[in-house]
Amino acid sequence: MNTEILTIKEDGSASDDCAIRRAAECIRRGGLAVFPTETVYGLGGNALRAEAAKKIYAAKGRPSDNPLIIHIDETEKAERYAYTNPLFYRLAEAFWPGPLTMILKKRDCIPDTVTGGMDTVAIRLPQNPTARALIRMADVPVAAPSANLSGHPSPTTGEHVVRDLSGRVDMILYGGPCSIGVESTVLKVEEDRVILLRPGGVTYEDLCGLLGPEHVTIDTIVTEKVGEDVKPLSPGMKYRHYAPVAPVILLQGTEAAVSAFMRERAADTPNAAFLVYDEDGVGLPSDRTLTLGRRSDPSAQAKRLFACLRAFDDMEGVGVIYGPLPSKEGIGLAVYNRLAKAAGFSIKEV
Ligand code: TXA
Ligand code: MG
Repeated sequence: MNTEILTIKEDGSASDDCAIRRAAECIRRGGLAVFPTETVYGLGGNALRAEAAKKIYAAKGRPSDNPLIIHIDETEKAERYAYTNPLFYRLAEAFWPGPLTMILKKRDCIPDTVTGGMDTVAIRLPQNPTARALIRMADVPVAAPSANLSGHPSPTTGEHVVRDLSGRVDMILYGGPCSIGVESTVLKVEEDRVILLRPGGVTYEDLCGLLGPEHVTIDTIVTEKVGEDVKPLSPGMKYRHYAPVAPVILLQGTEAAVSAFMRERAADTPNAAFLVYDEDGVGLPSDRTLTLGRRSDPSAQAKRLFACLRAFDDMEGVGVIYGPLPSKEGIGLAVYNRLAKAAGFSIKEV
């Protein structure tokens, strides 16, 4: 397949209307177009057509039991595709448009193929102006998983998308880097509480602030490894995701102990690579060390994380990657979750 790459302005302003309109038309007619959102790039198709969902699974090489998120441009439209409740509207009022996906019982117009056979559907209203213009012009809900090949880190730049999906989709809207850099917060919305299935830009603290901690549960899948026999609430969380080719080991200990451990490995393990906070790279080989952001700035870490994980695969002969165990505060919980998954929850005390 010949993939058309259309460069657009980062802010999705009017001069790019033509490119966005063409991508919208492509989706409406059953084709696939990649577009930027504030979290990660999405691989969009018409969520009302089972055929489009099948094409999405094929393009990503994704197991078809892993449901897709549908993207809308106005809160009111959720009612068409799902059974909403007052808690849903409270959350939408507070956090949409933005990095929040809500799971509700689905209506029949959403094909089972889109939801991987589940009777629920995940819905998100993104903030990015290109994404919103695209969904509005497509005039259908847009099913969009992250625009990476299955098993690769989610793409946070146009370059990541081109490397993964060139030749596999009809169009790519190539914009700027994603401002948040980790995928949206996923919540299962019940009558009087929410279950956090994937942490993201809308944080646990944000949710507790709005609803009270007694109405917010963090699913164990966020911070712990699930056994092979467990059927998770969110099918996507069971797959080994975000993992560089070399094994990742996260180090738990004081700043000094972690730094000392890394310096020792740098000296005795030539094929070791290192992921460190900006202030911690001293004494490590510069060609094998990537910086994640300042220790005290989890938003910066979220933005850089996936590019770092991809960059380790571009380094030659890396046999093992050592990284820090992030804090679980704020968007730090999302960084913790993605890194812990990349490491297969391999955490070493030092
Ligand atoms: O930020 C994002 O959410 C990006 C952008 C493009 O919007 N999309 C994204 O989609 O990350 P994806 O497909 O890579 O991740 C969706 C996650 C998966 O873990 C999936 O299993 C879960 O949401 N999910 C989707 N529908 C679900 C449902 N009905 N029940 C439970 N989990 C669901
Ligand atoms: Mg994904």
